[in-house]
Amino acid sequence: MKAIRGAITIDQDNAENVKDAVFELMNEIVQKNNLNKENIVSIIFSTTSDIHSFYPAKAAREAGFSECALFSAVEPEITGSLPLCIRAMLLCENTEKVSHVYLRRAANLRKDLAKFNIALDGPSGSGKSTVAKLLAKEFDILYLDTGAMYRACALKVLESGVPNEEKFVKPIMDALDLKVLYVNGSQHTVLDGKDVSEAIRRPEVSMAASAVSALKCVREKMVEMQRKIASEQSCVLDGRDIGTYVLPDAQFKFYITADSMVRAKRRFKELQEKGYSVDLKKLHEEIQQRDYNDSTREFSPLRKADDAVEIDTSSYTIEEVVTLIRKKIQEMV
Ligand code: DC
Repeated sequence: MKAIRGAITIDQDNAENVKDAVFELMNEIVQKNNLNKENIVSIIFSTTSDIHSFYPAKAAREAGFSECALFSAVEPEITGSLPLCIRAMLLCENTEKVSHVYLRRAANLRKDLAKFNIALDGPSGSGKSTVAKLLAKEFDILYLDTGAMYRACALKVLESGVPNEEKFVKPIMDALDLKVLYVNGSQHTVLDGKDVSEAIRRPEVSMAASAVSALKCVREKMVEMQRKIASEQSCVLDGRDIGTYVLPDAQFKFYITADSMVRAKRRFKELQEKGYSVDLKKLHEEIQQRDYNDSTREFSPLRKADDAVEIDTSSYTIEEVVTLIRKKIQEMV
């Protein structure tokens, strides 16, 4: 036996509103849990004490839930509780996964159940991806590295040897075989069936990604993929235009930045640790060039969304940035 919880609010206490709300709540619970009505043993409703017009249990019976045991009760008057709210508890047999359903203003009662997206934008080397990975782990949600997707496009264009122009790249994008897969929670970028997660980190691919990502055909294709992934589950996405363009309605938006030399030193260390021999001065110039490319391109340039919280990470450790973001998110909910 499993118990499924749900709640919904009404705007005014009248019979029609109660019936509509119960109908909507029951339909949503049935759909979300793939329920067979015969498997519902009992539904217990409770209403806040400001609802007098109709029994939710009667509304459920009218809505076709007539076989199971139905019951309505009134809740105690709790100071500050959500007004005009109908709650339900379904006891069900033969159900596997349980999805509780909180609708309308009642969605605020269980923010932990709501799907949400965190947008982390900012220039190269600002620490976004490390922060994003830690946040994803902490909130137990998916991390989508959108830069990796543009890097994969760049790799494909480099391999094809065509000039970085819309008319040459468009056919490549139309036929692109790119998949973002997750193995033990970490993102793998698969191009033409080959795992290119390492290859896309090469310095020449970084520069090419900045150029390729300015093309409209590339952005359109990647944004479509990113929106689809983000619509299916809660995730943290890092990139350049997540808060401004890909997910303008993301619940939490941050703009992570840092001084360009600090960023160059971080990339230098990262590449050295991976065994690449790099020159710091050249790396700094490249970072400045990529900043320029990314922020001046015509189509969805790197820009802080008006409603994003800006964090300059120049003098912070990664842990400090994560703590700050976690605190901001807690303040916002
Ligand atoms: O974050 P990164 O360095 O892996 O990104 C590689 C390039 O892709 C970067 O120069 C800009 C581009 N990019 C973008 O234009 N939009 C995104 N959402 C993510 C990356």
